[in-house]
Amino acid sequence: MVKITKLVLPVAGRGERLMPLTLNTPKALIKVAGKELLYYALEETLDTEIEEVVVVICKSQEETIGNYLKKIKDDFKKLRFHLRFQDGPFGSGDAVFKAYDVVYPDPFIVRYPDDLLLSQPSLLKTFSDLFRKYQTPFFSLEKMPHELISNYGVVQLEQKEGRVYRVRGLVEHPKAEEAPSDFTVIGGYLLTAEIIDYLKEEERKMTEKGKDCLFINIGFTKHMDQGGEVCGIEFEGNRFDCGNLDGVKKAETFLGNKLVQE
Ligand code: G1P
Repeated sequence: MVKITKLVLPVAGRGERLMPLTLNTPKALIKVAGKELLYYALEETLDTEIEEVVVVICKSQEETIGNYLKKIKDDFKKLRFHLRFQDGPFGSGDAVFKAYDVVYPDPFIVRYPDDLLLSQPSLLKTFSDLFRKYQTPFFSLEKMPHELISNYGVVQLEQKEGRVYRVRGLVEHPKAEEAPSDFTVIGGYLLTAEIIDYLKEEERKMTEKGKDCLFINIGFTKHMDQGGEVCGIEFEGNRFDCGNLDGVKKAETFLGNKLVQE
């Protein structure tokens, strides 16, 4: 199947870097310029073929996020929402497994709403179009200034065409001077069943060793190590890391100015 119809939004995080905004409000429902971060992510589905959206939350968010989805469902009539629950902060791979029954074995997108990406077309539309052409898993990439690079996963890559790259490897949070490039992983991923299969294998090994955190990137790395093709698209647009207060302020200012100009 080359059509992308499924989306996973992992939003169970506690949002500690957004305190006090997240004292009584889940991070995904923090408003930026009058709209919730979750709403911005859902808007990205509008010009895509996405129909199934799995929102992965923790049990304590069931009422707030559940009610919110009921409130906004008429704005997104083509979407079917599924709530799934994470038992704790066990990593992005764990969040994806909670969506397994809905997504597997189809290709799907994982998108983090706190990475606010303002672009035309949206990242979800870009991923969907790219999958039709390349049929590989995808990273979304951004060139990062030297001083910020160690906060991210950094890829080793070679250009394929235009803003599309073949990714050869990934180093998590390297020292700036050891980073394989200045391209970092941001915003979300496009996953295929192969990546999930590698993650499953990894989860099984980890369970045997008694470890409990699993990250999506491990699936990508395994796939690349086995010779599988992974691509990356350099994001073109405005990105705001709304996982922290400074990013939220910058996004507010940017969107506020835009509204004034319109
Ligand atoms: C995670 C990923 C990293 C990615 C980053 C994007 O890191 O492991 O590859 O670049 O998200 O925000 P974390 O934010 O958990 O440190």
